[in-house]
Amino acid sequence: MKVKLIAQIAPFVLPVWETKIKIHSMENQTDIKKVIRQHGEMETFFSGGFTQKSPAQIERLRPAVENTEVAAKLEKLSAKVGKCRKCGLGAERTNAVPGEGNSNAQIVFVGEAPGADEDAQGRPFVGRAGKLLDKIINAMGLQRQDVFICNILKCRPPGNRDPKPDEINSCLPYLQKQIETLNPEIIVALGAHAAKTLLDTSETIGKLRGRFHEYVTSPGREPVKLMPTYHPAYLLRNYSLDNRRKVWDDMKKVLDELNLPILPK
Ligand code: URA
Repeated sequence: MKVKLIAQIAPFVLPVWETKIKIHSMENQTDIKKVIRQHGEMETFFSGGFTQKSPAQIERLRPAVENTEVAAKLEKLSAKVGKCRKCGLGAERTNAVPGEGNSNAQIVFVGEAPGADEDAQGRPFVGRAGKLLDKIINAMGLQRQDVFICNILKCRPPGNRDPKPDEINSCLPYLQKQIETLNPEIIVALGAHAAKTLLDTSETIGKLRGRFHEYVTSPGREPVKLMPTYHPAYLLRNYSLDNRRKVWDDMKKVLDELNLPILPK
């Protein structure tokens, strides 16, 4: 009886299922196509559209001549970070990631914390987010070695979890000392953790970004201009032209503030 019924309704039901399966696989294909297109757009935006500049085109902020006195101080700090056990992260890391770059840098980029690649190499921003940061820096007409790159936390939180307040409190003096030593013209705070920590605010990154704030290094010294912007990892996750434009607009403000040209495509 059941078999007879199935045989009777099958010609009507099967085409509907087939259509549903077709639509579903078309949707999947569209998703994949969308992701590929979006990644292509990202490439174009930070590399093609804003062509990666050749060394000859690059207007250096300052000649890549190191300030030996500053470099020596930074080295000393890095050595301290390498031995640090002020919080639990010290025992879990493969390598500490103090930061690196030009001791004469006018721009300091500050991220959140090392990830797996950074922990493995002991260098900041060398993973996927780092590759995008390199492209952003290059699109600005600069090279990685023209700027200084570091993080709020110098050791990787397990599983890339958010930094804990006590970890930030233990680690922050290292960053404060780095910034005071470098005395840059501009700090670019990459993402909410960097911006909120350095500005000591609970305001969202969406509200903070797009305009300069002031970061006080030490009493009696001119505050350093701080531009918050979205973290490159956020850009990779929240892929939209609008977000990319916002980051580029923020970087153009940085270039403008330093009287640096926005190089043509
Ligand atoms: N994300 C960060 O915030 N810092 C790094 O060094 C790498 C990824």
